[in-house]
Amino acid sequence: MVFELTEEQKAVRDAARDFAQNMLKPGVIERDETQTFPAEEIKQLGELGFMGMMVSPEYGGGGMDTVSYVLAMEEISKVDASASVCMSVNNSLVCWGLEKFGTEEQKQKYLKPLATGEKIGAFCLSEPEAGSDATSQKTTAEDKGDYYLLNGTKNWITNGSTASIYLVMAQTDPEKGHKGINCLIVERGMEGFVVGAKENKLGIRGSDTHTLLFNDVKVPKENRIGEDGFGFKFAMKTLEGGRIGIAAQALGIASGAMELAVAYSKERKAFGKTINQHQAIAFKIADMGTEIEAARLLCLKSAWLKDQKEPFGKYSAMAKLYASQVAMKTTVEAVQVHGGYGFVKEYHVERFMRDAKITQIYEGTSEVQKIVISRALLSE
Ligand code: CAA
Repeated sequence: MVFELTEEQKAVRDAARDFAQNMLKPGVIERDETQTFPAEEIKQLGELGFMGMMVSPEYGGGGMDTVSYVLAMEEISKVDASASVCMSVNNSLVCWGLEKFGTEEQKQKYLKPLATGEKIGAFCLSEPEAGSDATSQKTTAEDKGDYYLLNGTKNWITNGSTASIYLVMAQTDPEKGHKGINCLIVERGMEGFVVGAKENKLGIRGSDTHTLLFNDVKVPKENRIGEDGFGFKFAMKTLEGGRIGIAAQALGIASGAMELAVAYSKERKAFGKTINQHQAIAFKIADMGTEIEAARLLCLKSAWLKDQKEPFGKYSAMAKLYASQVAMKTTVEAVQVHGGYGFVKEYHVERFMRDAKITQIYEGTSEVQKIVISRALLSE
């Protein structure tokens, strides 16, 4: 067992760290306050190869492994979880799904601009009444011969208004249940496709989350991913990998909050000494560091298994479940270490605390991860 990163992996991590500290940090508080999408910063992330990290160079990607992706996600999320969710959805839900299951034509047309960051993608599964219960798709894709007629509403879609390529899950044959669901590639600008209201969120306020409406959108048959009825399995397989990205995001939020808490505890004095010399604070730091390291190991193990082409779904669910719990706990404690300063925006930790919560909700709630983990354990 080797726990050492390769030189290449270290270089990716360091490049992501430099970008986060120098390019993302300066405007992050204002973007959160004004709910502004980091458009220029995402463009630069694309130019640096962070939007299609794992895509083969043949399609314009970085050809990197999933371990490198985890390292980069942690560094970006240490500073700006709104930028990192955009990066995560593009990399592991949209690009990965297209490369793995798309046709050559779909890869040439859609994957290439997504992998280079020229375009942004969105993954559209959730509906007003289909969140955790994802098989209950009400959006319909009626088979009309050479096209599907798409009707329905999708909710809480990350990159909702900034994306131009959308992977949309919809029910073609309700009698077949989840086996009647298809995934269609929908382009921005197709007639009848409307980007609806933007959500006003507790956290990741710089990411743009929208309702999407489809009114008689004609989607060509060649835009279906996989065989007829493959859509639900496509979504599940894609989310298995996506959960590694969100676990790494949660890890980054936690480790970013801990770094701030450690730095503050070395400066702030109370009762005649810096607060890190009080066990009340030092023990909090010990817990944070231990739990973050355990979360990091789960993230890296699930990424490594994916890179080895081994089954990893149980581990990615474990990584997401645990890292998101650690993110929530660490950020609350980081605010506590900062005392009153932690409650104001300039110190960043209150934002981390707000951002942490979504990691327990999207790409499957903590309860969904427990379903996946317990089913895997009980069938072993
Ligand atoms: N790989 C391949 N197939 C899978 C699979 C996987 N990982 N997981 C399930 N399936 C298959 C099953 O084998 C089954 O197929 P068969 O009937 O042919 O055997 C089919 O899918 C249905 O599976 P289940 O019976 O397990 O389905 P279920 O209704 O019990 O649900 C669930 C299971 C785990 C709760 C699932 O519905 C789920 O993951 N829900 C959460 C959805 C989710 O994560 N949504 C997030 C939205 S995306 C997002 O948040 C992105 C963003 O913007 C940040």
